[in-house]
Amino acid sequence: CGIIGCVGRGSETLDTLVHGLSKLEYRGYDSAGVAMADDTVSLCKTSGKIDDLRAALKSASLSGSVGIGHTRWSTHGPPTDGNAHPHQDCHGDVAVVHNGIIENYQSLRDELVAAGHTFTSDTDTEVIPHLIETELEAGAEPEAAVRAAIARLEGSYAVAVVIAGTEAIFAARHDSPLVLGLDDGATYLASDVPAFRDFTDKVVYLADGEFARLDASGWVVSDVDGTVVEKDVDTVEWDPEETGKSGYDHYMIKEIHEQPRALRQCLRERVDEMAGTVDLDDLGDLSPTGVQFVACGTSYHAALYGAHLFREAGIPAQAFLASEYATSVPPIGDALVIGVTQSGETADTLSALRAAEKRGARTLVVTNVVGSTAARECDHAFYIRAGPEIGVAASKTFSSQLAALNLLTLGMTQGDDTREVINALRELPGDLQRILDESSAEAVAELYQDAGAYFFIGRGLQFPVALEGALKMKEITYKHAEGFAAGELKHGPLALVTADTPVFAVVIGDDEKARKTVGNVKEVEARDAPVVAITDGQTDVHRYADHVLQIPETHPRAAAVLANAHLQLLSYHTAAKLGRNIDKPRNLAKSVTVE
Ligand code: G6P
Repeated sequence: CGIIGCVGRGSETLDTLVHGLSKLEYRGYDSAGVAMADDTVSLCKTSGKIDDLRAALKSASLSGSVGIGHTRWSTHGPPTDGNAHPHQDCHGDVAVVHNGIIENYQSLRDELVAAGHTFTSDTDTEVIPHLIETELEAGAEPEAAVRAAIARLEGSYAVAVVIAGTEAIFAARHDSPLVLGLDDGATYLASDVPAFRDFTDKVVYLADGEFARLDASGWVVSDVDGTVVEKDVDTVEWDPEETGKSGYDHYMIKEIHEQPRALRQCLRERVDEMAGTVDLDDLGDLSPTGVQFVACGTSYHAALYGAHLFREAGIPAQAFLASEYATSVPPIGDALVIGVTQSGETADTLSALRAAEKRGARTLVVTNVVGSTAARECDHAFYIRAGPEIGVAASKTFSSQLAALNLLTLGMTQGDDTREVINALRELPGDLQRILDESSAEAVAELYQDAGAYFFIGRGLQFPVALEGALKMKEITYKHAEGFAAGELKHGPLALVTADTPVFAVVIGDDEKARKTVGNVKEVEARDAPVVAITDGQTDVHRYADHVLQIPETHPRAAAVLANAHLQLLSYHTAAKLGRNIDKPRNLAKSVTVE
């Protein structure tokens, strides 16, 4: 979900809020709303997208010079008008927007209902305005009322509140991000910087447990006891243009095409080409004896790849799904625990990292977002520098994660093939550019857009590529797609293979792994499945394939990035031909801040 708030924009307040929501829509988009305050609180909200909110606002009349807004990704209750934020108290004097989950909401709600409060939604959030109302009725000042209500909440929250008769926004954060934006005469509040990046690049990140008050005289951050906290003002470096579509039909295809540049940014400064070394000096002495990765979704596939690299370098390493790790922490020993998270805000990954830290582990995060919660909480942060990614389905951040994980392994282990890998990484942006220019993935997408299901196979380093190929396909086409370790296909999934299920096989190099995968390709070809080989042509897989998506011969680590680019284009073009909502697939959100 996304939160925006603003103070000090006068008659432009409402437009500023709606503009901010449109920038945040990638964080959730099944309903949206805004509330403004002067002597009264006025509000407008609706299920649907920001355009639906804009339509609803035409017949609404909102007034005030402070306001808050929200775009929602449902957790409690379906995406209806009533469940959209902001939520209000019985008298409509308080409006609240919230990200996260209030774990004790049921007992709070029972208590409030028993005291005579009437609820109008299925959400956990609605308890907050009612708690504030109770405090106000008992005579508390607005800020004290909000603080007292917040103190009763358990779970995760980023909350913003406006109250009738108080031209201020009150906000609090616990386990869900909030950031202030500072401009001349105006102050913004958001879950994510893009919400106000068009107006200012000066930001203040709130930490867990902090409380903020924004009003015409400025802003103040305090701790739970009300003691003022001195905050650093950071400057965000990226350009607002980077978050526009720049003429592409979708953010996703723009971001796929940004990959060569993103990779160059990731490699720059870390790699000394002359010396053939990778510089990780800023991370201190890491030299781990073991590594445990934790991650979700696409980042989990990058983590599987990263674990493979460490094992190749002789360091025991495993990748865990963060949601599993957080609740069943394995023995850690003196392993370094590495979170891989594009956003740095994924609740499951943060939980896993916190669980590891509690057990005394050293933690490192590989992330794209400077100042994100993971970056601030972990002992070390390695930035992939891919630039902002707006499309919900990760593309450029995945390839940058793979490059970053190479740098990390090389920097920590300096193995025999360091020079060879560095050379391959250096050539990667150029090779990738040629694939993006020349790939015939769109023609393959055209042929198989009506297939019943899609299977992806790969072995070793190419196994995570197969998993990612399938995840991308299901995320944006809504079609059934599965990725398998090539050798596992015959142990069950082969029963699903028919002439209506194209199989995409990633076959790189000419070693035992590649030859065995060719054997698996023959097994599916014998069952009449159409075969698409993503290959550098070193084996004879083309003899068994109906189509070949070619990549140049390079190191298998770089080949994984190139093979993945063909599969990104395949999913993108299939989804485009099926008319799907590519940048905002149904039911998904870019950054899932609930467990
Ligand atoms: C969400 C997104 C996925 C993403 C995952 C992890 O589920 O829809 O595309 O891979 O979160 O995100 P992270 O920011 O931790 O990499």
